[in-house]
Amino acid sequence: MTQARPVKVISVTGGKGGVGKTSVTVNLAVALAEQGHAVMLLDADLGLANIDVMLGLKADRNLSHVIAGECDIQDILLEGPGGIKIVPASSGTQAMAQLSPAEHAGLIRAFSQISHQIDYLLIDTAAGISDTVISFTQASQEVLFVVCDEPTSLTDAYALMKILNRDHKLTRFRLVANMVRSPQEGRDLFAKLTRVTEKYLDVTLDYCGAIPFDENVRKAIRKQKPVIEAFPRSPASLAYWQLVKKVEAWPVPQAPGGHIEFFMERLVQMNAQSSMSELGS
Ligand SMILES: Nc1ncnc2c1ncn2[C@@H]1O[C@H](COP(=O)(O)OP(=O)(O)O)[C@@H](O)[C@H]1O
Ligand SMILES: [Mg+2]
Repeated sequence: MTQARPVKVISVTGGKGGVGKTSVTVNLAVALAEQGHAVMLLDADLGLANIDVMLGLKADRNLSHVIAGECDIQDILLEGPGGIKIVPASSGTQAMAQLSPAEHAGLIRAFSQISHQIDYLLIDTAAGISDTVISFTQASQEVLFVVCDEPTSLTDAYALMKILNRDHKLTRFRLVANMVRSPQEGRDLFAKLTRVTEKYLDVTLDYCGAIPFDENVRKAIRKQKPVIEAFPRSPASLAYWQLVKKVEAWPVPQAPGGHIEFFMERLVQMNAQSSMSELGS
């Protein structure tokens, strides 16, 4: 039996769709992999631009088939650029709320089988403030918010921060500004958000920098490649290399709670709690 190793679990979220959550998740994953880390990506976004689509991969089975006991987790893993492993979770993440105890155990067992192979687990969350988004972010060690200069991006991000802080006691969020026209625009977005979080919430916001608006990101998606691979010298790619340095500097958990099976356990418990409260209300 291989020794479990600590894994860093990062949820990428934002409240709003179209701000660049999937782009950030995929490029960050590939950049971390190129730095020599073993990276797994969990696709928890039910939107149209799914990770598998963005990378030209085909998933015929997902986490729901593992939960149903139809196959092993090894059978559903897709291999992406830089050797990243992708867990197609889409419908599986919805199914998680209705798991039986035996299925819970099976899911946790499935993830403990592969836990020795991963340093980073990145989760691409869906838009909006659903129970699924809340459980994933709450079970993660780091929550990276992606915002951009669109009217509802900041208000949606703030609304999610508020729920995570007030109802779920999360106190630290990381922030990346995407599609900025200048570095100043990114700092302004951070300042605007900080003004309200400092006034109304008990959270620390950590600014991790900005990704510029870059046509190469869209060109890369048309080639079904992450920009960091397709156009490594483009402005967005250079910014991703800065971001990855910050992410690598985040502390890695040493306690057993930093292992992936504990993450899955927390996740499953939270899903169970939220479906219980739904039943009760
Ligand atoms: N830095 C960027 N510059 C230009 N376009 C971008 C950038 N980041 C994302 N996009 C584009 O914005 C759209 C939404 O991005 P996506 O990652 O799918 O957002 P989300 O996952 O938040 O819905 C995509 O068409 C993507 O190509
Ligand atoms: Mg997305």
